[in-house]
Amino acid sequence: MIIRFLYGAWALTLSSTVFAAQPSAAPPLSAPLRDLPWGQLNFLHTTDTHGWHAGHLQEPSFSADWGDYISFAERLHERADDEGVDLLLVDTGDRIEGNGLYDASDPKGKYTLDIFAEQDIDVLCSGNHELYKSNSSEAEYSVTVPKFAGNYIASNLDIFDPKTGEQRPLAQRYKKFTTKNQGIRVLAFGFLFDFTGNANNTVVQKVEDAIKEKWFQQAIRDREVDLFLVIGHILLRSIEFASIFHAIREQNWDIPIQIFGGHTHIRDYAKYDSKAYALESGRYMETIGFMSITGLSTGGKETTISNAPSGRDFKPSASPSFSRRYIDNNLFSFYHHTSLNETTFPTIHGRNVSSMISSARKKLDLDKQFGCAPKDYWTNRVPYPSEQSIFTWLQDEVLPSKIHDPSRGDTPRMLITNTGAVRFDIFKGPFTVDTTYTVSPFTNGFRYIKDVPFSVAKRLLQILNQEVPQLWPASQSLAYVSPAPLGQTHPSNPLYNPHPHAQTPLTPLKEDKDLTPGYTTTDDAGTDGDDTIHAPITFYRVPNCIESRIAFPPTTSSSKTETNTQTPTSMQSEEDPTAIDLIYVDFIESYILLALKFLGTDYEERDTAVYMRGETLTSVIAEWVGENWGCE
Ligand SMILES: *[C@@H]1O[C@H](CO)[C@@H](O)[C@H](O)[C@H]1NC(C)=O
Ligand SMILES: *[C@@H]1O[C@H](CO)[C@@H](O)[C@H](O)[C@H]1NC(C)=O
Ligand SMILES: *[C@@H]1O[C@H](CO)[C@@H](O)[C@H](O)[C@H]1NC(C)=O
Ligand SMILES: *[C@@H]1O[C@H](CO)[C@@H](O)[C@H](O)[C@H]1NC(C)=O
Repeated sequence: MIIRFLYGAWALTLSSTVFAAQPSAAPPLSAPLRDLPWGQLNFLHTTDTHGWHAGHLQEPSFSADWGDYISFAERLHERADDEGVDLLLVDTGDRIEGNGLYDASDPKGKYTLDIFAEQDIDVLCSGNHELYKSNSSEAEYSVTVPKFAGNYIASNLDIFDPKTGEQRPLAQRYKKFTTKNQGIRVLAFGFLFDFTGNANNTVVQKVEDAIKEKWFQQAIRDREVDLFLVIGHILLRSIEFASIFHAIREQNWDIPIQIFGGHTHIRDYAKYDSKAYALESGRYMETIGFMSITGLSTGGKETTISNAPSGRDFKPSASPSFSRRYIDNNLFSFYHHTSLNETTFPTIHGRNVSSMISSARKKLDLDKQFGCAPKDYWTNRVPYPSEQSIFTWLQDEVLPSKIHDPSRGDTPRMLITNTGAVRFDIFKGPFTVDTTYTVSPFTNGFRYIKDVPFSVAKRLLQILNQEVPQLWPASQSLAYVSPAPLGQTHPSNPLYNPHPHAQTPLTPLKEDKDLTPGYTTTDDAGTDGDDTIHAPITFYRVPNCIESRIAFPPTTSSSKTETNTQTPTSMQSEEDPTAIDLIYVDFIESYILLALKFLGTDYEERDTAVYMRGETLTSVIAEWVGENWGCE
């Protein structure tokens, strides 16, 4: 079931030239849509865009680009002004890393930082990805924060100023403003979860400590507030948001609170109390979140100079109503929600930004082909192991033919990689420079330990794939998270494999032939959140890690898939080597060493060395595709 083949009649009647999206993007599909639930105060929310500002060129559901989003916001602003209501834009971080548009330039982000900043965003904050490298947080500090001066908030994040060496807030701690048309007084915060993997030039203050700070305690005692707006690169059902919520509620039992979160890449909506709700809007420019609140007080009204029609007067309500919608990021949805069409929808600014994006993609040569994939390979849409599993393909085809360091001769070897190192699916058709970055954007190389007894090495995978408590503190689990009750912690490991559709039923409902497969979200408000009505997609869990055995003596008993199931220990063959080279992606070195300790050995960092210097998982995949997948 492949979405992009199911072009509806509507899409076929359009010529490709009329689209504002990227020229090579798949046209969107027609589908039944739910309208946006407009209210007194409305929001558009993006999160975890990870450089996907060109949209998804091969997936019609998500094929609009950042320029289209700019047109969309401009059109909705026109409507808000006509009706005398308000619209605010929010972004909750992880804007970088994960797509060639960001990663392929030198320096990284050369184009995306400017492209992103074309959107008028009212409140934004940093994610964890902005902080892994000291030069990317410095780019936030020197480019993005000034571009969004007054709107970028860093409630618990400091940076050492690269010029003065002084520790200072990355941006202001909070923001207070009054909305343009309704005069709603908003007090906004911008937090990051209790992240510890940042480079040493930034300082993330734990949320529980930040909310004890004097500035925060003073801010939440402000009585002239109609709405608390808490944005954060934090998953919704977390200790961090719960403690911020409780701190605000201790001072304000009655003031509405709107939360926007991110990080886990899912669509989710959580009720904190009858006047406090939280929205998370997916990942990778797949989703534009829409949120509205009606029934807020408007204490700033008398001071607001507004030329909007005096029109809509909302009475502050004892229980304001909150409503959400997850918009599929494509032009069909955008036209529908603005009641416009391909000639009337795009704005000059939006078109300009779409062309900034195409010219950046050209300069970066992102469409350059290494080869053509003969079929789709999926991370989570098919079981592992299986014919169409990207992990089976890696383990059985790519790694065995590419993982070889000449200095080690023909030594039998095992390579272990975490599945989180692969971020996205491969679609049938051109495998381009862009694809390499979406599939595996990480720059991690390989390391190895030589001559590890096979009797030890063969038990590693099982340890890594089990949640052995001593080995995986709960907060570092690489396993999936699914929406958890309020108060539960989230995995803080940067490469844990966030489940893109954790809320999708594991078995699809009876398929409706007229619906295209896509998001079918269930959240605290029910099952009517998605704007596009889709047939559900089945998602499969994959193990934390996979293993390839290479140059082993031929055995009689093993088959490829057997070798790599989760119980390799059951395989005993006379031809087993006594010792092997244990190779792994360097990102998981600490886990490998821990697991080896757990198995009773005492390997340490000094026993490890670089393997295949200069190669990465990404380069190995690109080379293999070039050698094995011709086009035609
Ligand atoms: C940071 O440094 C790395 C390594 O030199 C480089 O590849 C990257 O482009 C730099 N990133 C930024 C944002 O300057
Ligand atoms: C950060 O680490 C680098 C080396 O990795 C060191 O040179 C530098 O002094 C450290 N900076 C701070 C602020 O601790
Ligand atoms: C778009 O809408 C305008 C105004 O309603 C109309 O004149 C025009 O014919 C429409 N264009 C298309 C291609 O439907
Ligand atoms: C569009 O781009 C042109 C050329 O770069 C520029 O002169 C113009 O100001 C831009 N217009 C808008 C609305 O962004």
